[in-house]
Formats: sequence, C-alpha cells, structure tokens
Amino acid sequence: MSSQTLIFKKRPIVLLQGEPLLLWNWQQQPQTLLQVLEAKKVRIFSECRSGYCGCCRTKIRSGSVCYLTEPLAELQDDECLPCCCIPEEDLDLELSCRGADMPLLAEKYRA
Ligand code: FES
Repeated sequence: MSSQTLIFKKRPIVLLQGEPLLLWNWQQQPQTLLQVLEAKKVRIFSECRSGYCGCCRTKIRSGSVCYLTEPLAELQDDECLPCCCIPEEDLDLELSCRGADMPLLAEKYRA
C-alpha cells in the first residue's frame, strides 16, 4: 500500500508598496501578471508585451516570479517583467497604488 502526499500551494498575494492588491487566482492563467495588474487599473508601462523591450520592468520589493516565456530583456535580481511572468509566492512590487482598484486600501483610509 502506498501513501500519498497532498501538496497545497498557497495562493500568492500581490502587493503594491506593501498594500494588498489581490489574491492570485490560478484560474486566471494563462494571464500574465501585467494583464492582471492592468485589470486592476495599476499604472504600468508596456510595449512589446512579450519580454524583449524591457518597458514593463518592475522592481520587486519581496517575493519572486516565474516566467511563462523566457524574457530576453536584461534584468537585475530585484526586477521582473510582468508581461511574461506570474507570481511564484507573495509578491510585493514597487508600483504606485494611485488610481488602482484596491478595495482594501480604500477601506483602510475611509474616514
Ligand atoms: S512590455 Fe516589453 S518586456 Fe514587458
């Protein structure tokens, strides 16, 4: 009789400068991090949307990503290309939350 091991992987939280934006939904795949950020109205510049121009280069404050396609643009260790990656674990990005659809942040600053 063999034993089975169940592995539960926690859904990553995506944060902007420490503020929670969303709980990543694996069902959204094959959406990229860029597509999900845009859906939440996060201001982020993009051009090629396929990992070679580097325009969407974003600083990672903490966490890590995995790439759906191998990026061609050069990256520092603390950067990612949201157009071709998804979060691998909780991910805090150095992006402004100004104008983004962040209900938890709005609740926090409600008078
Ligand atoms: S938009 Fe070109 S690398 Fe992401």
